[in-house]
Amino acid sequence: MPRRQQTSNIETVLRQAGLDFCESRDLLVHVLRKPLSFLIAYPDTILTPVQLQKFRGLVVKRRHGVPFAYLTGHQGFYGLDFMVTKDVLIPRPETEQLIDWVLAHTDRKAPSIIIDVGTGSGCIAVTLAKYLPTAKIIASDVSEKALEVARKNTRTHKVSTRIQFRHGSLLSVLKPNELPDLVVANLPYLAKPQLKNVPHEPKLALHGGTRGLELVEKIVAQVAERNIPKAILEIDPAQERWLTGIGDRLTGYHYEFLSDLAGRTRFFVLKNR
Ligand SMILES: C[S@@+](CC[C@H](N)C(=O)[O-])C[C@H]1O[C@@H](n2cnc3c(N)ncnc32)[C@H](O)[C@@H]1O
Repeated sequence: MPRRQQTSNIETVLRQAGLDFCESRDLLVHVLRKPLSFLIAYPDTILTPVQLQKFRGLVVKRRHGVPFAYLTGHQGFYGLDFMVTKDVLIPRPETEQLIDWVLAHTDRKAPSIIIDVGTGSGCIAVTLAKYLPTAKIIASDVSEKALEVARKNTRTHKVSTRIQFRHGSLLSVLKPNELPDLVVANLPYLAKPQLKNVPHEPKLALHGGTRGLELVEKIVAQVAERNIPKAILEIDPAQERWLTGIGDRLTGYHYEFLSDLAGRTRFFVLKNR
C-alpha cells in the first residue's frame, strides 16, 4: 500500500488523532456519516482528502476544548436527539431530572399549560410535549437565535402544533390573563467568576448577574405575583441559602429543594398552598 494510503486509513487516522479513543471514533462516525459498525468492519478504508481534512480540523478544535456537541451539532437529552449550535446551551444530564419531576407531578390525561422560560435548544419544551400528549407548552427566550434552534428541534420531533414560541424576558411574555399551571426554567444561574469554567457556551445562557441569582429571584417574584400554582427552577447548589431566605419571605407558597443525582441541591420548587 502506498504511504499516503497507509496514513489515511480509518485505523491509522484514529490511532494518530491523540484524543480519547471513543471521542475520535465518534468524530469520525460524524465525518464519514457511517455507523460505528462500518468503522469496526472496514478499518482499512482510505479517507478522501476532504474527509481527512474535516476530521483533522475537528480534532484540533476538540483539543482546544470545544465541546463535542458543538462539533457534531447534536446532543442527546432524555433519549431524544437535539440539534445544538453555539447559540444555545448544550443540554445537561441534570436537567433531565427536571423532566422526571414534571412527569411525576402532571396528570398526563388532563390538559395543562406549561411555560418553559429560557428554552434554549428547546430540550425541555420538546421533551415535555413528547411525553405529555395533552399539554400545551409555551417556550420563551430572549435570544432570537436560540428560538430558531428550538423551532427546528420542535419540527424534528413533530410537536410544532403544541409548542408556542415567544420572544421576551421571563414571564413578561404571558398575556395579562394567561395563567399557566406550571413554570419550568433552567435560567442562567452562574456568577461572573464561574463563567471562566464554561468558555465556549453563550454568556447569555449562563450569566445570572452578580450572585448568579438575578433572574431566578425575578421569576420567583413573578410566579407569586401571578399566583401560578407550581414552578420548578434549576439552580446552582451554592444558591440554597439565598433562596431559603426568598422562600421564607414568600406568602402563599410552600417551597422545597431537590438534589441532583450527585446529591447536590439543584432545583427550587414552589407550590401554592
Ligand atoms: C441555561 S440556558 C437553558 C437552556 C435550556 N432550557 C436547557 O435547559 O438546556 C438559559 C436560557 O435562558 C435564556 N435567557 C437568558 N435571559 C433570559 C430572560 N431574561 N428571559 C428569558 N430567557 C432568558 C438564554 O438565552 C438561554 O437560552
